[in-house]
Amino acid sequence: MTYETLLVETRGRVGLITLNRPQALNALNRQLLDELTGVLAGFEADAGIGAIVITGSEKAFAAGADIKEMQPYGFAQAMLEDLAAGWDDVAGCRKPMIAAVSGFALGGGCELAMMCDFIIASETAKFGQPEITLGVIPGMGGTQRLTRAIGKSKAMDLCLTGRLMDAAEAERSGLVARVVAPEKLLDEALAAAEKIAGFSLTAAMMAKEAVGRAYETVLSEGMRAERRLFHALFATDDQKEGMTAFIEKRKPAFRHR
Ligand code: HXC
Repeated sequence: MTYETLLVETRGRVGLITLNRPQALNALNRQLLDELTGVLAGFEADAGIGAIVITGSEKAFAAGADIKEMQPYGFAQAMLEDLAAGWDDVAGCRKPMIAAVSGFALGGGCELAMMCDFIIASETAKFGQPEITLGVIPGMGGTQRLTRAIGKSKAMDLCLTGRLMDAAEAERSGLVARVVAPEKLLDEALAAAEKIAGFSLTAAMMAKEAVGRAYETVLSEGMRAERRLFHALFATDDQKEGMTAFIEKRKPAFRHR
């Protein structure tokens, strides 16, 4: 299948999505959202896919939501269409997702990266929520996920001044998991995804779900959720295989169920 705004391929058990609107620095328009949600739904339904990488170009992961598309909107249209709410489907993907970010990840681009489970950045990456410079605020989770990721003071700084943060500051702040040289970015992200995809799929999905609970809830509820997911994994073939392989001093052969 071909897409107008994305390049999509599978590499073994990894699904690789490359945002592909170079003429607009991968600005996120309606069509891109529709295509992305369709591809993610397909990957989620495909037992052969264990992890997903989302990346952009060397110059831009994504320079934000498409300003030209949003400019004519009024309040009523934004509200009636529930502008930006469709991105919840991207954030709701249940399989592990890694953002491989090079260049600009601004506004909705930064927000899309934060919808992924972790971010691997090139040394050239620049993150920011510059919506204030356009007379608006982040609308795809920037004020929420950024604050949880880097704390109130830095999130306020970025959202109120619109300034950009380089990869070193982003790593220092906890927004980014790893920073690598630009030429190593995709290999590093694909290797991480391949590693995840080699483990038990149920365990990886539950690990994602459990860490996700820490974002959403108080500690006691999160602990309860973690424990139930932990218990449930003892019903899987892969738990028997993983633990038996350890005892037998061999590599596990996970069946991803
Ligand atoms: C539409 C965009 C775009 C965007 C860049 N382009 N960003 N088009 N929406 N977000 C287009 C430009 O108009 C231009 O097209 C082409 O991409 C190249 O961009 P330039 O500006 O010429 O490149 P450069 O000088 O290198 O500057 C790069 C940049 C700048 C610093 C990233 O493009 C920029 O500031 N972009 C906007 C960043 C931003 O404000 N993002 C937040 C958006 S609001 P033409 O046709 O002119 O050559 C947002 C809200 C999300 O994300 C919430 C809800 C949905």
